Amino acid sequence: MTLKRLCRSTLENISHVARNTYVLTFRSHFLSHGVSAGQFLEIKVPQCSDILWRRPFSIHNIDPENDLVHVLFHAIGRGTTVLSMLEIGEGVEILGPLGNHFHYDEHLEEAIVVAGGLGIAPFMLMKRELRQRDIKMQLFYGVNSSDHFCALDQFADYATLHLSTDDGSRGYHGVVTDMLIPYLENLSENASKSLFVCGPTPMLRTVQTIAQQYNIAAQVSVETIMACGFGACVGCAVPMKHPVPGKKEYYLACKDGPVFHMHEIVFDD
Ligand SMILES: Cc1cc2nc3c(=O)[nH]c(=O)nc-3n(C[C@H](O)[C@H](O)[C@H](O)COP(=O)(O)OP(=O)(O)OC[C@H]3O[C@@H](n4cnc5c(N)ncnc54)[C@H](O)[C@@H]3O)c2cc1C
Ligand code: FES
Repeated sequence: MTLKRLCRSTLENISHVARNTYVLTFRSHFLSHGVSAGQFLEIKVPQCSDILWRRPFSIHNIDPENDLVHVLFHAIGRGTTVLSMLEIGEGVEILGPLGNHFHYDEHLEEAIVVAGGLGIAPFMLMKRELRQRDIKMQLFYGVNSSDHFCALDQFADYATLHLSTDDGSRGYHGVVTDMLIPYLENLSENASKSLFVCGPTPMLRTVQTIAQQYNIAAQVSVETIMACGFGACVGCAVPMKHPVPGKKEYYLACKDGPVFHMHEIVFDD
């Protein structure tokens, strides 16, 4: 397990990459080394004394040669709006790396990645890891409208893309999971493959059903609302499937996850 640390870092770059969506680039030797896809960081929102809790973000990518770490985020509320207005050179306090990460079976030949919206965030680092291991990457990526797509050129240099939009402005017109079934139908029985999933809850629920139907292993990164990020506040409970009907048990997304075997989780609304 990687030790977490509170790091003072500086913002090296900020870029607007899609509608309301930004990439922050920080310089940190510690955070750009020895981290894995699925792990996350908690970033303190600067100059906002009333926003107490740091905000959690997946590690989007790293550039260890230059000590850089990238976070991709959607400006959705107060904290993320402030982060979208950071200026290059500004100091930022980051806690990380936090949580566990995706695992690759040693015989894995093909990673079938399913991302909905900002659920794409952890998969750039995964692309780097898959390339290093020579594992093929199929990327099923759905968004509301084409101006929400992020980093398609960067993914396309390694992954095979299967794109969808809810409004039909690019790729398949409909939800991303519609494209998954025909793909799985035509897969060779012998290929060693696994699903890797991140996105909104309705999408996760559908992929869980599909994974069960096709008997294919699936790992999911959940984005439950969090506070402390390291198991102290019990604010990020995720219901787990329990063999005894009516009995409830919970994982903590920050400490036990955020990556889980998909069949272990109950996806509540
Ligand atoms: C492990 C993990 C990894 C994440 N990775 C990313 C990422 O890479 N990129 C990214 O853009 N976002 C990511 N998120 C979600 C991100 O943390 C929230 O969008 C962010 O904290 C919102 O902060 P805010 O102050 O702007 O919103 P607030 O003002 O606090 O809330 C605004 C709205 O956002 C909703 N919201 C708050 N937290 C979350 C959450 N965790 N998930 C979904 N909606 C939320 C609130 O319910 C509310 O409707 C991740 C969350 C977790 C737990
Ligand atoms: S966020 Fe505090 S226990 Fe998970």
